[in-house]
This record gives sequence, C-alpha cells and structure tokens, in this order.
Amino acid sequence: MTEAFTPKNIIVTGGCGFIGSNFVHYVVENHPEVHVTVLDALTYAGSLDNIKGLPEDRVDFVHGNICDAELLDKIVPGHDAIVHYAAESHNDNSIADPEPFLKTNVEGTFRLLESVRKFGIRYHHISTDEVYGDLALDDPARFTESTPYHPSSPYSSTKASSDLLVRAWTRTYGLHTTISNCSNNYGPFQHVEKFIPRQITNILSGIRPKLYGNGLNVRDWIHTDDHSSAVWTILTQGRLGETYLIGADGEKNNLDVLKLILKQMGQPEDAFDHVKDRPGHDRRYAIDSTKLRTELGWKPQHTNFESGLDKTIEWYTNHQEWWEKTKAATEKRYKAQGQ
Ligand code: NAD
Ligand code: DAU
Repeated sequence: MTEAFTPKNIIVTGGCGFIGSNFVHYVVENHPEVHVTVLDALTYAGSLDNIKGLPEDRVDFVHGNICDAELLDKIVPGHDAIVHYAAESHNDNSIADPEPFLKTNVEGTFRLLESVRKFGIRYHHISTDEVYGDLALDDPARFTESTPYHPSSPYSSTKASSDLLVRAWTRTYGLHTTISNCSNNYGPFQHVEKFIPRQITNILSGIRPKLYGNGLNVRDWIHTDDHSSAVWTILTQGRLGETYLIGADGEKNNLDVLKLILKQMGQPEDAFDHVKDRPGHDRRYAIDSTKLRTELGWKPQHTNFESGLDKTIEWYTNHQEWWEKTKAATEKRYKAQGQ
C-alpha cells in the first residue's frame, strides 16, 4: 500500500543548481497547486539565472545555507515538505578538497533532519547511485535497493553518510522520509565542470574535449526531467521509510558518449585528448529501477539518448551567456589537476 501525500508548500534545497532547478521548473509546470521555496547558498554551482522568469507567486527564493539552524527555524514552519537536493556534487572537487563535502553533505543533512524532527514535516532525500560503489565492466549485475553500500570517493562517501543519517533519524525519531538514489543526469543548466557540458562547451570554445583514462568507464544516463518526475512520484506516492532507485536503462561508456557529441557537433571522432585518469575512478554504474516502476508505476519518457543529447547541445549552443561566466575558471582548475 502506498501512502498518498499532497504537498502544497515545499522547500527545495539546492533549487538553483542543475537538478534542483530542473525540478523547480517541473513542479511549476506540472503542479499548479504547489508553492516552492528555494533555499540555496549560491555556491559556485548555483545561479539565480536557473530559476529566472518563474512566476513570483509560485516560487520564493531564500539565500542561505542548509547548515544554518537558526535560518531553518525561521523558514521551515508553514511548509509541508523538504525536498533536499543541495550538495557539493562533483567527484573531482571532492578529491581535491573534501572538507566542503563533509560540511554540506553530512552536516547540512543533519541540520535539515533536525529541523524536520522539530517541525514534523515530510522529507525527501536526493541521493546517488554512487553510494553502491562500482560494478565490473563485464558484470551483468545492476544496483538494487538491497545492494550493500560501498562508496569510493570523498563525494560518494559523504552522500552515503547522509543516506544513513536519514535512515537512522527515520527509525529512531519516526520521521516521515523517503530516499531516492539516481544515476547520472544530463540536460540543461548542468555546470560545465561535469562530463557532458564540459565537452560540449569545450568544442564551442575551440578547446579539445578531455577524456579520463581509456574512456571505458560506464555511466547510466537519465534525462533530468525523468529524474524530476520520479522524485515527484516518490514524494507523493512513495512508502514512508523506503528507498527507491531511479534509472532509465541508459548505460554507455564515456568514449561512446564523447564520440556521439563529436559527431553531433560536426567534429572528427578522434578530435579529443586522453588526460590523467580520476584517482579511484568508478568503472561502471547501472541501475535496476524495477521497484519504482512496478510499485509506483513510474516510467521514464526521455529514453532516446541521441535526441536528448542533441537538445542538450542545442541548449548550450543557445545559452553561451549562461555558461561562459564559469568556463574559464573551471578549465583553469582542471588544468592545474592535469585534466
Ligand atoms: P549542483 O552542484 O549542480 O547544485 C548544487 C546546488 O546546491 C547549488 O545550487 C548550490 O548553490 C547548492 N548548495 C551547495 N551547498 C549548499 C549549502 N550548504 N546550502 C545551501 N545550498 C547549497 O548539483 P546537482 O548535480 O544538481 O545535484 C543535486 C543533487 O542531486 C545532489 O544531492 C547530488 O548528490 C544528487 N545527484 C546528482 C546526480 C547528477 O548526475 N548530477 C545524480 C544523482 C544524484
Ligand atoms: O552517478 C551519479 C553521479 O553522477 C552524481 O552523484 C554526481 O553528483 C555527478 O557529478 C555524476 O558523477 P560522475 O563522476 O559520474 O560525473 P562526471 O560528469 O564528473 O563524470 C562522468 C564520467 O566522465 C566519469 O566516468 C568521469 C568522466 N570524465 C569526466 C570529466 C569531467 C571524463 O572522462 N572527462 C571529463 O572531463
């Protein structure tokens, strides 16, 4: 039995980042009865431009940090749910400097859980498939909700920690929570530090794309709109205390994705550089989302990767002013790391 929940006034943390802002757009477009308060610290990864133009009577913005308990005391009352996206999200940054990951991903989640406990509201926790570690390239297995946690990087270990906090707070204090672990997202508003936007904007800037190691590592791609519809489904119909894996059967290795980008952008298929591999680089992620599909009836809609990628290339081509502000600093950081 699922427990229907009809939110009216939700807080979306990290709503100025990539996936959070896409979720805010999704809610505004599809659920006119819902008001959204975006809580975001506007780190290097967040931008108000990502929620610009949304109706003011539907979306409020609060500039603040999820670690700020006093701020949470002020803004959480009156809301009926928190959907928690805010995080330090990039593996390479976590390898260079893990501390902000501990602060935001672990302490930030703790603060939100304490606030949820105090004000008795619903909480949905956004997490990642990376908590499960990686799979061998030739292993037919995929991650399920019962795969043991085995994170590899500072980033994924802090996300795993945050998931465990949610489970412990749920069991001990009886909080009304759900968790989702999703695979690699792509689509508009993704920061240029991430694989797909980095390569597209490199080509648009006359820089050769950069592939880590041999490029055979596999990621399980999902369009961010499918992630949004899955989170909405879990928030409104998911069973309390449960974890749901989100994936769209989109396994591809990095080399194949890069070749597709090069082809779709009219470049020779070998017009890229192999660069230093990521330390501890996870080989393969793969999601089995049977539980979400059978229990809650969710289905991804954007499963044609070539067409989704084409639209994403078009978006970056038409939104140069959005990404060029952060491009030079991002490439400088990568260059210093030999990547
Ligand atoms: P992102 O880096 O693009 O955005 C993160 C947002 O959080 C930014 O707007 C940033 O300003 C905000 N933020 C960071 N620290 C904060 C703090 N202390 N207080 C308030 N706001 C803060 O991240 P993303 O790629 O959109 O990922 C969003 C969530 O989804 C994360 O929890 C991530 O772990 C999870 N996730 C990401 C993917 C993916 O493919 N990108 C896949 C699965 C899960
Ligand atoms: O699986 C979900 C995770 O997906 C999320 O939890 C993370 O927040 C999100 O960043 C993403 O993590 P990855 O490390 O898989 O994504 P990234 O875009 O950094 O890299 C994707 C793959 O591409 C990975 O195998 C590393 C490789 N790569 C990355 C960059 C930036 C390259 O080959 N070259 C690059 O320039």
